[in-house]
Amino acid sequence: MNTPQAGIFALGTASHAYLEFDVLDQRRGATLVSTISALREPRTTIGGVNLVVGFRPELWSQVAPDHAPVGVHGFNTGLLGPDGFGMPATQHDAVLWLSGSAYDVLFDVAHEAITAVRELASVAEETSSWAYRHDRDLTGFIDGSENPSLIDAADAALIPEGQPGERGSVLLLQKWKHETTAWECLPIDQQERIMGRRKLDGVELDEKPSDSHVASTDQDQFGKIFRRNMPYGTVTDHGTMFVGFSADQRRLSTMLESMVGLRTGVRDALTRYTRPISGAYYFVPSTEGLRRSRQNASSPVDRPDSE
Ligand code: HEM
Repeated sequence: MNTPQAGIFALGTASHAYLEFDVLDQRRGATLVSTISALREPRTTIGGVNLVVGFRPELWSQVAPDHAPVGVHGFNTGLLGPDGFGMPATQHDAVLWLSGSAYDVLFDVAHEAITAVRELASVAEETSSWAYRHDRDLTGFIDGSENPSLIDAADAALIPEGQPGERGSVLLLQKWKHETTAWECLPIDQQERIMGRRKLDGVELDEKPSDSHVASTDQDQFGKIFRRNMPYGTVTDHGTMFVGFSADQRRLSTMLESMVGLRTGVRDALTRYTRPISGAYYFVPSTEGLRRSRQNASSPVDRPDSE
């Protein structure tokens, strides 16, 4: 049985970093995949760093066609809702997600990783994240209440055994910038109706409005996903790094369609107080998938005209 990248499920780390890369020369995509696949997560006695790596789905299926999930695609086109609210597509070629107990260890590992791929790729996006009041988003609400437990998370997040790409996962990485002043002007009961949950303890409202965030992303309707969201940013410019894993890309994409109002005409009320400024899908292969792509790299797999 293939093994998923362990960092997906490594809960409880306070410091995170996300690095998204663009390949410098399209013909060297395969070398970028093998170089990133060869990066190791360091384990020290003081505190390890979890490293999760993913690739633009089309790039991965070009490099490892036998181990690529069927029909998974990048965030290649933005979404536009009926009232003009949109979500941008900012797809890149590869992502590294590092998490650990403190930023200093992440800094060193991230720096080494950037150095390792310097000849092949540039850093297109870099975001640092940190836990806020244990498990709260910067809206003040508990984020993750309805996440599957770690026992069920694998079923939600991982492509089942026997399918191409087995034990890999589809990651949606989307950065949301909060309109904090507007949000803070709202009375708490209105914030609660927007979220569909109580602010203090996260309990779901008995009657959640149809435009509430939890109604717009209801997993009973769209299917289960596993979220590892984190707050990011500074005091004056901040928001949520949405980090969602799924066994099936459609669950994520239909949630996004629902949030912009493309499914029922009702737009998620939360999107009036926070807006996406990035959006990309990555395929996160199993560790065996990564190993195979490293071995492939010992033969010249770069394509003369790969895109
Ligand atoms: C600024 C962006 C976002 C913030 C602040 C946010 C915050 C929250 C909060 C506070 C909850 C309620 C507690 C919980 O169950 O975790 C929640 C639920 C949820 N969110 Fe988000 N979220 C954001 C974006 C998204 C996006 C982009 C998606 C999907 C692509 C999503 C999917 C979900 C799901 C599936 C649930 C659980 C729904 C259910 O009850 O089944 N969220 N979110």
